[in-house]
Amino acid sequence: MDTLMRHFKQGDWIFHEGDEGECAYIVEHGSVAIVLERADGHITLATYGEGTLFGEMAIIDQKPRSAGAIALKDCSLRAITRAQLNHRLERADPILKICIQVILKHLRKTLSQIHSPEPTKVSSHVAHLNETHHVLDSKDQHLTQVVNPIVDVVQPTEQAVQSMAETIGQAMSEANPLMATDVFSEAIKTLHLEQELQVALTERQLKLYYQPIVRLSDGLIVGFEALMRWIHPEKGMISPAVFIPIAERSGQIVEMTYWALREASSQLKQFQNVQKGYWGTQYAPLFMSVNFSGRDFLDGRFLDEIQHALQSQDLPPKSLKLEITESMLMLSPEEVQRVLGICQSYGASVAIDDFGTGYSSLSYLQSMPADTLKIDQSFVRTLHKNDRHLALVESILHLAGRLGMLTVAEGVETAEDVDTLRKLGCDLAQGYYYARPMPTEQVLAWMEKQTEKFPKI
Ligand code: C2E
Ligand code: CMP
Ligand code: CA
Ligand code: CA
Repeated sequence: MDTLMRHFKQGDWIFHEGDEGECAYIVEHGSVAIVLERADGHITLATYGEGTLFGEMAIIDQKPRSAGAIALKDCSLRAITRAQLNHRLERADPILKICIQVILKHLRKTLSQIHSPEPTKVSSHVAHLNETHHVLDSKDQHLTQVVNPIVDVVQPTEQAVQSMAETIGQAMSEANPLMATDVFSEAIKTLHLEQELQVALTERQLKLYYQPIVRLSDGLIVGFEALMRWIHPEKGMISPAVFIPIAERSGQIVEMTYWALREASSQLKQFQNVQKGYWGTQYAPLFMSVNFSGRDFLDGRFLDEIQHALQSQDLPPKSLKLEITESMLMLSPEEVQRVLGICQSYGASVAIDDFGTGYSSLSYLQSMPADTLKIDQSFVRTLHKNDRHLALVESILHLAGRLGMLTVAEGVETAEDVDTLRKLGCDLAQGYYYARPMPTEQVLAWMEKQTEKFPKI
């Protein structure tokens, strides 16, 4: 039996105004009227037919039913439970959550004004309110209803964000005092940063820093990782740990990745030329690691961009490395596997980043087209303090060796780390012990210094 299907006869009350709400409903058959119950008769706010949702307000804002609902015909309604709605709301973008709270607050306020005795006022309110139907069969329309208020309110200035913060903050604390104010202020900050990031993209405030990756046996430079920096005109340098997650959520990351890919590829060409100038061709050409996000793989231009980066700079095979995390592999393993396979066929190399921190399933390691494994710095940093981590790193290195993968230890900070990792047979290392991420000019100076240890030819 379908316990979430509810049946009502024509004229039955589904719920009354002021009742406690226990679920929302989707009309599967029949139709429903939403009414304000008044001593001198009902005011019909809306009639809902098949495929529409109602009764959501009391579930979302946990206040009494804002209106009554009555069956206009025999109806079958599917109940949407509080848990089902809350689960989705909890995962929603904080800005959208705020907007929903604000809309609900305005709607409740307007509904309470309809209870005023002047009938002319009532009819104009009703006409206005009837424009706010929630039609489920058009997702876009529903979304537009939620998103439009953001577009109307938000101005890309600090002042406007501040005044929005005050208005919404007040509305929210009235609408839902449980919504923590720091959640709210974080959400507003994010919104502001997202707008500033857009400016940063057009005004070239983003920069790439390059961190050398060396051969563990003797410290010879073999490549770099490109790491993004945001040089904000007032706030100074902003960490990628702050702005990358924002860009991922807003979708801006895709353009940022393509920019980094082009920039890093052309920079690599210069570094390779310097390498040739110093050491001829006695060492393999330097490689460049570029970080990717899950969203990048969903973009239709992804493969073209990779191919273009490799061809336009005429890079030797394997000198461009795509760094991807385990969680991205888990998103859609077959699709990611297919796309990465094509990247490799173009000549790119693929590294699994932060290995050991995601939901590692060892079985995918052998099927994934990846040739490099980067051991996360959390294991490297505790190598000497934690025997279990030592055992883990040892096993990871053994496994990678058996699969023929190149290994890179991240976050190498001390001579002791170097010593242990060397003994364990790790191939490459990256960390403050050797060099921090640096802008191009400093990288060139650092490479020059390497010639003391590895003489020019
Ligand atoms: P990640 O890819 O794991 O990059 C390594 C991070 O470790 C970098 O932080 C680097 O500066 C830091 N690091 C390197 N050596 C050491 C060390 O010896 N000790 C310590 N404590 N840290 C070390 P960073 O540059 O702040 O980047 C943080 C994260 O932001 C990156 O982690 C990556 O996930 C993300 N990110 C950076 N640039 C990009 C980018 O262009 N695209 C994408 N999608 N993500 C990026
Ligand atoms: P809830 O408050 O849970 O119960 C009554 C429902 O009527 C409410 O959720 C909305 O789904 C719907 N509703 C409230 N006000 C209006 C309105 N002005 N126009 C259309 N539907 C409304
Ligand atoms: Ca990385
Ligand atoms: Ca990493």
